[in-house]
Amino acid sequence: MTETRHRTGRVRRSLGLLLTSALTAAGLLVTASPAQAESTLRELAAQKGGRHFGTALTVNPLNSDSQYRSIAAAQFSAVTHENEMKWESLEPQRGQYNWAPADSIINFAKANNQIVRGHTLVWHSQLPSWLNNGGFNGTQLRSLMENHIEVVAGRYRGDLYAWDVVNEAFNEDGTFRNSIWYQGMGRNYIEYAFRKAHEVDPNAKLYINDYNIEGINAKSNGLYNLVVDLLNRGVPIHGIGIQSHLIVGQVPSTFQQNIQRFADLGLDVAITELDIRMQMPANSAKLQQQANDYKTVVNACLAVSRCIGITVWGIDDERSWVPYTFSGEGAPLLYDGQYNRKPAWYAVYEALGGNDDPGGSDPGGSDPGGSDPGGSDPGGSDPGGPSGPCDVDYVVVNDWGNGFQGAIYIRNTGSSPINNWTLQFSLPNVYLNNGWNGDWTQNGSQFTVRAPSWNPTIQPGQRAELGFVAGKNGNVSAPNQFTLNGNVCS
Ligand code: G3I
Repeated sequence: MTETRHRTGRVRRSLGLLLTSALTAAGLLVTASPAQAESTLRELAAQKGGRHFGTALTVNPLNSDSQYRSIAAAQFSAVTHENEMKWESLEPQRGQYNWAPADSIINFAKANNQIVRGHTLVWHSQLPSWLNNGGFNGTQLRSLMENHIEVVAGRYRGDLYAWDVVNEAFNEDGTFRNSIWYQGMGRNYIEYAFRKAHEVDPNAKLYINDYNIEGINAKSNGLYNLVVDLLNRGVPIHGIGIQSHLIVGQVPSTFQQNIQRFADLGLDVAITELDIRMQMPANSAKLQQQANDYKTVVNACLAVSRCIGITVWGIDDERSWVPYTFSGEGAPLLYDGQYNRKPAWYAVYEALGGNDDPGGSDPGGSDPGGSDPGGSDPGGSDPGGPSGPCDVDYVVVNDWGNGFQGAIYIRNTGSSPINNWTLQFSLPNVYLNNGWNGDWTQNGSQFTVRAPSWNPTIQPGQRAELGFVAGKNGNVSAPNQFTLNGNVCS
């Protein structure tokens, strides 16, 4: 399944064969599509020293929302279960396991050539009530914990790239959190957990993961001291997960320095749960600040060679955990609730080296509505007619060889409504089966889509989303040009 975006009139042609081969070899390139592809975030991250760019997924939208699925597949090369691999989800009753939701995310990741971070083996939160309220002593807790690692890490042995073996072990002042694990075993529980995980899944990278450890502070110092001690005693720990649940305008200034000091211990560092929340309602100033903040985080990671990847904590704002947890706050992710790319998306794209439209205006700031990166296109050479107040994205959602599903997004970039629109483009070697959100006709290679009677207008800043399924014969390229009411769209 692929989401391939194409910017009409300025198709990126810079991805050469060499790069494609390298990415394929690195296992991080999504399947090629019939259209010339715009770089995806996962491709760009792979070009930055083979880094991953990942997301947390949840099983419900994965099974029911094709847009969620296609973005998940196309843009991300790593996957973390948002909740499905937590103890409460896997073993809600003692000895009764519920593997299906976790499995389905792993199967999705395998099908889309994505690595998986296992989240999480030992945590104080989201424990089943039989465990939380069981009144177990230290010996029993150690045995339960080690058995859990044996069962879970054993079941998925070889499937996962990394495990968050221990999650959120620290208080803000750098002392150990008084979890049931700490109460039962003292700080030794951490060492026991890592040794057991390594014994069970010896090829997985083993991480300790926490929040509010982005900068150099009491909590990250506590973690640092623990990790030095673990390494000195030969405990198999390989990475630091810096969750990065951040607030707009408050990225710690020592973020990069902090990543570096952990890397200097010989460890991998991953940004594992990135989101940057704001007070609602969002406005363009906050969205721009958020874009800058995302860029700062990406740059901090890219500056340290052992910072091996970034995972954002979800795809779209609508499904984020933030509004449910922080009253009045939200909009922390790269896509809004309608899957429009936010300024933050463009900021990440640029920070990762995407340069679809060099010399164009700031790709995020003035374009929160979901068009592709880049602003104006002064050097563009769109032929064939007056340029219109429209911007068109062409996306191959899914390609199964002799057919494909496409999506076309028409955005009104002008200041007046566009009424009763007609979109025209050429797609040789393509045979329309079915089109929606417009009246579709095909005459040879010429396609015409007219506005549906129930939704004839695109308001300024809004977009119409069309979809179609077609057969194909041979190679299919994305249309060179789209016209809307006779005007060429950018
Ligand atoms: O599944 C039940 C559902 O049956 C019930 O009707 C509903 C009613 O509230 O709750 C549902 O469970 C919720 C679960 O998410 C799945 O949606 C829990 O209440 C809710 O507490 C839980 O929140 C998760 C949170 O971890 C729990 O601590 C968030 O989705 C998840 O994003 C969040 O993720 C954590 C990381 O694992 C660790 N780092 C911090 C991060 C953010 O808190």
